[in-house]
Amino acid sequence: MDVEKTLSIIKPDAVKNGYIGEILSRFEKNNLNIVAIKMISLTAQQAQNFYSVHKNQPFFVDLVTFMCSGPVVVQVLEGIDAVAVNRKLMGATDPKKADSGTIRGDFAESIDANAVHGSDSLENASEEISFFFADSEISILS
Ligand code: CMP
Repeated sequence: MDVEKTLSIIKPDAVKNGYIGEILSRFEKNNLNIVAIKMISLTAQQAQNFYSVHKNQPFFVDLVTFMCSGPVVVQVLEGIDAVAVNRKLMGATDPKKADSGTIRGDFAESIDANAVHGSDSLENASEEISFFFADSEISILS
């Protein structure tokens, strides 16, 4: 049980639908501290680079277009087993398969408009955090 940091994005659908507060509250209620946060509008280049691991997937163009369709809120979450805790809170990628009570089960619209992104491993978390935040922008809470 290690203290970890992970990267979370509240996607354009959840921002547009007014779920920022409820989603952030779920993180805090589950012992994930928000140690960095900002609202930004991704450029196509940023979205392509962030999701470059998916560049050969058939859904890549739609994913990039969607992620640029409105502002997103990007945050660094810190807590014990933060990567796994966040993934559990998010629920399955496809909201049709996500349990009720998970963020995607409760707030997502479709597999593209699926409310949140979260790092899937500690290694990717580190890369994704540095994609959006300089070390100096991340608070030290403990
Ligand atoms: P995310 O966790 O942000 O990582 C990649 C995103 O691609 C994923 O959430 C989905 O929103 C999107 N996506 C669209 N189609 C698929 C698919 N068939 N499989 C996985 N991800 C998909």
